[in-house]
Amino acid sequence: ESIEKGGYEHFMLKEIYEQPRSILDSMRGRLVAESSHLMMSGVREYENKLANADRIIIVACGTSWHAGLVAEYLIEDLARIPVEVEYASEFRYRNPIITEKDIVIAISQSGETADTLAAIELAKSKGATIFGICNVVGSSIARATDAGAYTHAGPEIGVASTKAFTAQVTVLTLIAMILGSKRGTLETTKLHQLMAELESIPAKVEKALELNDQIVKISELFKDATNFLYLGRGYNFPVALEGALKLKEISYIHAEGYPAAEMKHGPIALIDEQMPVVVIATKDSSYEKIVSNVQEVKARKGKVIAIVTEGDKTIPSMADYVIEIPETSEHLMPLLSVIPLQLLSYHIAVMRGCNVDQPRNLAKSVTVE
Ligand code: G6P
Repeated sequence: ESIEKGGYEHFMLKEIYEQPRSILDSMRGRLVAESSHLMMSGVREYENKLANADRIIIVACGTSWHAGLVAEYLIEDLARIPVEVEYASEFRYRNPIITEKDIVIAISQSGETADTLAAIELAKSKGATIFGICNVVGSSIARATDAGAYTHAGPEIGVASTKAFTAQVTVLTLIAMILGSKRGTLETTKLHQLMAELESIPAKVEKALELNDQIVKISELFKDATNFLYLGRGYNFPVALEGALKLKEISYIHAEGYPAAEMKHGPIALIDEQMPVVVIATKDSSYEKIVSNVQEVKARKGKVIAIVTEGDKTIPSMADYVIEIPETSEHLMPLLSVIPLQLLSYHIAVMRGCNVDQPRNLAKSVTVE
């Protein structure tokens, strides 16, 4: 087993560090920047159907559902197709409205999640076209779908999903770009910019991983906290949910992810000097707004750990701890901003003596409902 861990103490850490490579693998042969071309064999046959869909419904569970939320922002923004993101377990039992003009995208690392599989069968029976995004080749979901794209992240052993998430987001970004260019909603210059930026992501993830030592120090300070709040807006809102989920799963600390602006409708009541608040506040279209949210937290003496874009001066002057990540387009930011959150949850869990790779009560793939 120690050989399989490749010198890392846990599979989760190994998988976190594999991300520059796994992200590259997930776009290999699909992003051909020199010829400004995007290719996805699984998509090609269904490209017209996808591009002409009245609506895209995304079904998934857990971390894959968070990747689905990122896809909602991407597809609506770049391709202007309405997207709904559903927990497979709710979707399957609530008599949903599905027509033949709908495309259902099912996202699953394992390809074996019972609720997601059942949601697919339901949508199929109503005539929808089903597209799968799976990591495990030949899995039940990969077989049950009409078409799909594999994420090629390689085997993920740690129960808490890390590299599968970033691979899912990469593939969904490519799909949003393909649809946007096909529908003419994404200008060619913008498409080319995004392609170049996506190509530079593995190197930027590598840079984000260099934050490890700094994150170890922050983890020391907060390892005994009993609650955490994670805030983000826009593309970083699903990342806030994912950061909170990672912490809950492996460290057993209660954590909540929230859209930063929604904090005033509830979670703000929880904030006092004991409450660590992780704010993902990178330079994007909601930056000014999240600056105010950080001020709101500081006014109530919360401890702010801010994830910011390199070179930012404003948030560092207000936050207690600052983690700087490389700059990128807001469309791609989840691929970078999630990295420090994965490391934070990992180190806190290790310091608390938790079984990081096999947390209590959780399974890698949930094949029962
Ligand atoms: C389990 C795993 C999670 C995963 C979820 C969905 O709860 O512990 O890490 O996100 O299932 O799994 P899937 O394989 O469908 O992505």
